[in-house]
This record gives sequence, C-alpha cells and structure tokens, in this order.
Amino acid sequence: MKSNIFIIASLLSLCSADASADSFGNEAEGISDSDWNLAMRSTNATGSASIPGYNLRKKYPGEKSDNWTVSISVASDIIGGNSAAGKFVTGTQIEWKGPPGVISGADSSWFLCRNVYSSLKLKQSGAGATNGSCSGLLSDGCLSALQDSLEAGTQCQNTTLPTDCVDELELTSGQGFGLTSAHPAKSSNTSDSIQIRYGNESHDQGNFTAYDAAIRQVWLVVTGFAQAGSDDAHPRGSAGQPGSVACLQADEVQNNSRDFKNAADIASSSLVHVLIGLTVAVSLCW
Ligand SMILES: *[C@@H]1O[C@H](CO)[C@@H](O)[C@H](O)[C@H]1NC(C)=O
Ligand SMILES: *[C@@H]1O[C@H](CO)[C@@H](O)[C@H](O)[C@H]1NC(C)=O
Ligand SMILES: *[C@@H]1O[C@H](CO)[C@@H](O)[C@H](O)[C@H]1NC(C)=O
Ligand SMILES: *[C@@H]1O[C@H](CO)[C@@H](O)[C@H](O)[C@H]1NC(C)=O
Ligand SMILES: *[C@@H]1O[C@H](CO)[C@@H](O)[C@H](O)[C@H]1NC(C)=O
Ligand SMILES: *[C@@H]1O[C@H](CO)[C@@H](O)[C@H](O)[C@H]1NC(C)=O
Ligand SMILES: *[C@@H]1O[C@H](CO)[C@@H](O)[C@H](O)[C@H]1NC(C)=O
Ligand SMILES: *[C@@H]1O[C@H](CO)[C@@H](O)[C@H](O)[C@H]1NC(C)=O
Repeated sequence: MKSNIFIIASLLSLCSADASADSFGNEAEGISDSDWNLAMRSTNATGSASIPGYNLRKKYPGEKSDNWTVSISVASDIIGGNSAAGKFVTGTQIEWKGPPGVISGADSSWFLCRNVYSSLKLKQSGAGATNGSCSGLLSDGCLSALQDSLEAGTQCQNTTLPTDCVDELELTSGQGFGLTSAHPAKSSNTSDSIQIRYGNESHDQGNFTAYDAAIRQVWLVVTGFAQAGSDDAHPRGSAGQPGSVACLQADEVQNNSRDFKNAADIASSSLVHVLIGLTVAVSLCW
C-alpha cells in the first residue's frame, strides 16, 4: 500500500517572528517550545556531521567559515499537545549550528536554505555510522546532481530534487509530502541554531513503534548558501556558493535507551509506504 499525498504549502514570510524552529507533522506542531526542548535535553539518540559553511556576517559571497554542523536528535516520549492529550510523541529534530554570532548576526544579503527529505528507501536496519556521508546511501548520480543544482543556485528555489534523486528515493510527482516556507534566521536573541522539528504520531507509554522507526530513519539534509532575492521567499537564483548534502541518522543511542538490538524488525512492521520531504527556505531578514 502506498500513500500518495503531495502538499506544497503556501510561502510564508514571517520576518518579524522570533522563533528559530519550524515544526512539521500533525503532532509536533501542537507541542510547546518548552515541552519540546525539555525532552530534547534528555534525547535518546543523536547523530551529527560537520558541513562547510560561510561567514554570513560578511556580505554575500562572504568567506568560508568552519564549525558549521548539522545534527539529528530523537526523543521517544515528548508530552503530547492538545490533539494528543495524555499521550506521547516521538520527535525528530534536525538542527543547524554556525559559529557564535554567524547566524544571529547574518547580513541581509544571504539566503540560507534547508531541505530535509526522508523516504522508506533511506531506512537502515541498524546503526549506520554514516557521520553525515551519503556515499553508499545515495547514488553518485544523485549526489552530484544535487551538488550541481546547489552551486547553480536552483536547488534553493523550490522543493524539487534532481530527477536522479527523485527516482531513487521514489519521490515521484504525487508521492510524498512537501512544504516550503521562509522565515528569518536572524531573530532577536535566538541562538546560532535553526531547527526543523518533526513528529507524526502519538502513542501510549511503552509503545516503541515510532521510536524504532525514527532511529532507523536516515534524513537527507541539504543546505544551500544562496544570495537573497527581492522577496523573503526566494533566493536570487544566481550561481551560489557550494552548499552541502548530508545524510543523518540518530544512530548514537544513549546508554539508558532502547537500542537497535531491542528494536523490532522494520521489514515486517511497516507496510505503509510513507515518503516525506520537507523544505524550509530561510531568508535572512535584517
Ligand atoms: C572552530 O572551533 C575551534 C575549536 O573549538 C576553534 O578553535 C576555532 O576558532 C573555531 N573557528 C571559528 C571560525 O569559529
Ligand atoms: C564516525 O564518527 C565516530 C564517532 O564520532 C567515529 O568513531 C568514527 O571513526 C567516524 N567514522 C568515520 C568513517 O569517520
Ligand atoms: C523548481 O526550480 C527548478 C529550477 O529553477 C525549475 O526547473 C523547476 O521547474 C521548478 N519546479 C517547480 C515545481 O516549480
Ligand atoms: C537579548 O539580549 C540582551 C543582551 O544580551 C538582553 O539584555 C535582552 O534581555 C535579550 N532579549 C531577549 C528577548 O532575550
Ligand atoms: C512517521 O514518520 C516515520 C519516519 O519518517 C515513518 O517511518 C512512519 O511511517 C511515519 N508514520 C506515519 C503514520 O506517517
Ligand atoms: C503504537 O503506536 C503507533 C503510533 O506510533 C500506533 O500506530 C500503534 O497502533 C500503537 N500500538 C499499540 C499496540 O497500541
Ligand atoms: C555509556 O556506556 C559506556 C560504556 O559502558 C561509557 O563509557 C559511557 O561513559 C556511558 N555514557 C554515559 C552518558 O553514561
Ligand atoms: C528515552 O530517554 C528517556 C529519558 O532518559 C527515558 O526515560 C526513556 O525510557 C527513553 N526511551 C527509550 C525508548 O529508550
């Protein structure tokens, strides 16, 4: 059975907003910042990778800057929001971090775009220890097409992945879930971190179905460092700085937490074919 849903939400420009987190999935959307952050402080499983970045404080095209990271965290039992009162939600958080002051003090000439995709094709039966590398997970054709489209400045325009990747991940037109929005990375005192939060179910305590799936899910994380366009929703579309492509899995499981060994075999547990692609374009508003 396949679920065929394709939604592109309208572009949002929220340049006065203060938050640096976007939530996706029915359940994550209803969870308060404080409940989410509390759960993520005792996260059950994590993964992270270094990515090449830029010093956004200088005008585009800036200069290279070290110490950018993307990371993933999974928490098994976040207290459910209104729609899941009395239940718990398994949350996945993907976070971008730059060196101190680089995101919060970004120059308005930059457009930082982030795309995250997951697919059943990107599930591993155990710990992958990818350290962010997509080799062995995505074909060379898909990887180089993605890198090319980042450098050409087209990848940040919309949610569309290069054809090679779409075929490979089985994210064909009409299949999957996509969303595009823009909001500021530069917000009052927010830390130098931007998050995407995801949670698509709620469960009773002791039900590990969603957790077992979440620690096996590899997320394709695409980061683009583009030049700002005339509106907040789109970059200029000119050739950009090379961005990065990472594959992240929360495969470093805490000692007190359920590991891959305990988890049920996903091959038999999931018949529903759900493909998800989320895109968030972040415009750096002044
Ligand atoms: C990156 O981190 C290292 C070690 O923490 C530090 O020495 C270096 O100054 C940092 N570089 C930048 C650009 O922040
Ligand atoms: C991946 O990261 C782990 C933990 O940080 C490290 O032990 C391992 O050597 C890394 N593997 C590769 C291939 O870099
Ligand atoms: C997405 O952007 C690319 C490059 O600008 C373009 O070729 C493609 O038609 C766009 N797709 C959609 C659905 O807008
Ligand atoms: C922002 O930072 C300044 C100085 O660090 C502090 O005085 C102020 O209270 C902060 N504002 C908010 C909303 O956190
Ligand atoms: C929720 O997301 C996970 C991870 O992407 C996926 O394995 C699962 O099938 C999804 N569940 C539903 C009900 O959409
Ligand atoms: C466990 O939770 C999932 C949602 O994550 C739900 O689909 C499933 O029915 C629950 N299992 C039991 C035995 O309640
Ligand atoms: C987890 O267990 C390992 C090996 O027993 C130990 O070295 C490590 O310190 C433990 N980590 C935590 C956070 O307790
Ligand atoms: C996740 O961590 C919390 C807090 O340490 C713990 O209570 C919970 O049992 C863990 N969940 C799983 C599935 O291991």
